[in-house]
Amino acid sequence: MCGIFGYYSTNDDDSAFEVIHKGLKRLEYRGYDSWGISLLQPGGIKTYKTTDGLDKKPDKPAIKANTGIGHTRWATHGKVTKNNAHPHFSTDGSFVLAQNGIVENYLELKGFLSQQGYKFTTQTDTEIIVKLIEHWRKKTPDLEQAVIKAFKKLKGRNTIIILTTENTIIAIKNGSPLTVGIADGAWFFSSDTLSFSNRTDKAVILDNGQMAVLDDRGLRFKEIATGKVIHKKPENLDHKQSKIDKEGFDHFMLKEIVEQKNAVLEATNYSLAELKPLLELIGHSRQVFTLGAGTASHAAGQTAYFLRNIAGIKAVELASYEVSSFAEIFDKKTVVLAFSQSGETADSLEAIELAKSSGAKIVSLVNMMGSTMSRESDLEYYLRVGPEICVVSTKAFTGKVAWGYLLANSLRGKFTVTKKELEATSSKLGSFLKPKLFSQIENLSKMLVKKEHIFVLGRGQNYYIAKEGALKIKETSYRHAEAFSAGELKHGVIALIESGTPVICIISEDEEKQNMLSAISEIKARGGLVIGIAKKDHKLFDKFIRTPELGGLDSLANVIPFQLLGYYMGKLQGFDPDKPRNLAKSVTVK
Ligand code: F6R
Repeated sequence: MCGIFGYYSTNDDDSAFEVIHKGLKRLEYRGYDSWGISLLQPGGIKTYKTTDGLDKKPDKPAIKANTGIGHTRWATHGKVTKNNAHPHFSTDGSFVLAQNGIVENYLELKGFLSQQGYKFTTQTDTEIIVKLIEHWRKKTPDLEQAVIKAFKKLKGRNTIIILTTENTIIAIKNGSPLTVGIADGAWFFSSDTLSFSNRTDKAVILDNGQMAVLDDRGLRFKEIATGKVIHKKPENLDHKQSKIDKEGFDHFMLKEIVEQKNAVLEATNYSLAELKPLLELIGHSRQVFTLGAGTASHAAGQTAYFLRNIAGIKAVELASYEVSSFAEIFDKKTVVLAFSQSGETADSLEAIELAKSSGAKIVSLVNMMGSTMSRESDLEYYLRVGPEICVVSTKAFTGKVAWGYLLANSLRGKFTVTKKELEATSSKLGSFLKPKLFSQIENLSKMLVKKEHIFVLGRGQNYYIAKEGALKIKETSYRHAEAFSAGELKHGVIALIESGTPVICIISEDEEKQNMLSAISEIKARGGLVIGIAKKDHKLFDKFIRTPELGGLDSLANVIPFQLLGYYMGKLQGFDPDKPRNLAKSVTVK
């Protein structure tokens, strides 16, 4: 996680602090434990660090500069303190460095450096990189060479950015993302293109093992394995991605929940010709694995369900972090369908690398343009649901599920009719996402927020929705919510049900309805408090939330009450739903 940002300007603007602060604000989803900005001054580099949020910008940054780097941290090594905040200074003050990633061999490197007499003043793994560069610099005075030598010693996914007193910015990518935005007389180094999309739509996206150097000779790129200069053509960015505004909503989370009605159409805005390569690939395959982590894994699960049940495809969902135990069964006739909002999730990237090495074909569905995952895929599709700023994923989930539904139906020759169905779904979601629903859920939240444990049950098309629903409650309300297949109840879970235990049950008008009602009877017999999420009320329900009839896409409506429960239960306790504790949106570490 963590976000890095650099700014270099040859214009007479002195605004580096402002520009970097704004950039970090847009990268805040990557971590918000602390932040720091280093600026180049006539007398050397000046650094400002704080554990206060980015909203608390110092009144007087006092420093005017046109070059600098910044970092917003999600703590991995070392507590959340000002001292551990990046950027970190070299001993002689000639450069500062910030990192996005983890130095996996940091203990080994620290041991080596300690033996050489280096002293450490922070608890971070990043300081190891600084000292390692200093070590190599003793052998080669050329900083660029020392940086390359040090970088090659690091294990893990690390992207670093360096600012020197020579007015140079050096950045290297391995694993974690790195992009360079190019405007007139101004350059932006960042973990994503969104953070500078207000300034330019031209960017170079670096691949692993590549380095960017910017100094008074201009911007150049190098392959770090060979040291050779490489030519990289700037890409034109999709400006739709740059709309970052709460648009009157209190939080991004609520705005993005409401935007789901559009996400259904945006994510499926593909022609049959555009889907054709994927349809053919799946048609010629032996097996399909869908994968992702967290919410993306739930969307992967739902898509595998659609592929099996709608298209009769042998499809199985895998959690990215459990993929290694499947390595033996990947082959050239395997298709891996990877889901990710960010396209930078380390677990998912490692999973696709592993599958790729066994000859599997990789297809990705990602929201962020130019992500590592998209670049590493044989076929890439984009969600195009616009930026998802809230750390908790909502509209990206809906987009992925809608896309999976279109894919499964297209495999069955039902592309055109499904496109029509999606339009109707979007409009029904629009009518569902109204103040009446919000106040109903807010009221329910007042009751649920007092409960220590909440259980969620679903089956069939609602199994992954139950899992996603429980996750939404946990993430923003910090209440324990656990999802099970209703079939699991009598195999042990029922021991947890006592008088007043809230159990949220998701029911569709399908072949699982009777099984769900049987499970509910068993819960009621033990005094459980049943909240039904269904099309029709039932005498067994203590509380009832009516969801619209969406046929094969019921899943999309059924997840919304959980997203709203998480939102209101968090808000009622005074938590910020956009920035839940301990979480970051882009999980670029394992
Ligand atoms: C939950 C959430 C996470 C992400 C997961 C994967 O609300 O946001 O569980 O879904 O970390 O992230 P992406 O989709 O970027 O691969």
